[in-house]
Amino acid sequence: MRRKMVAGNWKMHGSLAANEVLLGDLTAASARLTCDVVVCVPFPYLAQAQRRLAGSAIGLGAQDCSVHEQGAYTGEVSVAMLHEFSCGHVIVGHSERRAYHGETDSAVAAKAQRVLASGMTPIVCVGETLQQRERDETEAVVGMQLDAILHLLGDRMHDLILAYEPVWAIGTGRTASPQQAQDVHAFIRQRAQRHCQGAARTRILYGGSVKSANAVELFAQPDIDGGLIGGASLNAVEFLAIADAASAAT
Ligand code: 13P
Repeated sequence: MRRKMVAGNWKMHGSLAANEVLLGDLTAASARLTCDVVVCVPFPYLAQAQRRLAGSAIGLGAQDCSVHEQGAYTGEVSVAMLHEFSCGHVIVGHSERRAYHGETDSAVAAKAQRVLASGMTPIVCVGETLQQRERDETEAVVGMQLDAILHLLGDRMHDLILAYEPVWAIGTGRTASPQQAQDVHAFIRQRAQRHCQGAARTRILYGGSVKSANAVELFAQPDIDGGLIGGASLNAVEFLAIADAASAAT
């Protein structure tokens, strides 16, 4: 049985004042949630979020990390630093990092390896662009992204979390239908299970315009184990409603 999970990816949003309110609203309601809930905040807000989430059931995560352990890498943040702020999860390979920062499949796999080695859980993102979907290349693209992870971490699949985020559904309001998402999730699980039986236990989150209005149907799919939520994670009422849907499906 895979426990459902909802992870908020705040992306480059927030302010000390706004976070105070959002985190306060989330922690006040967290006792009722029976799924795992994590918020992945921008680096400068890790200390604030660590303090605000202390003692609550909501976990803290980061949105990226350096592929390097330490050293002269201006602007980079290491996994050891994230660990010091009680991060339990780190998103790696988000499509925005792949598209705007040139992250390759092998760099994403190396980051996931670093996160695991430091005792945290990577949330590894995969997903195709609209053009790739229209060319019927979804399985080829997602398969290649996944293979880089399987190559390096094939025996650790039960220790990481995967997130299928079709690029065409991110921030567009255009969600994959529950069946479209389920088809890719099932493909990912089968491919991962060929390398590692433990992949039966790997949680695969869906991300891309998840809202309270579509969460119930998405989370009812057999291979969708929760959501990676962008825009809707900035609104406490909406994010909690999505977490309620995951809790009900657990
Ligand atoms: P939206 O929920 O805003 O579409 O973003 C999804 C996402 O990219 C989460 O990582």
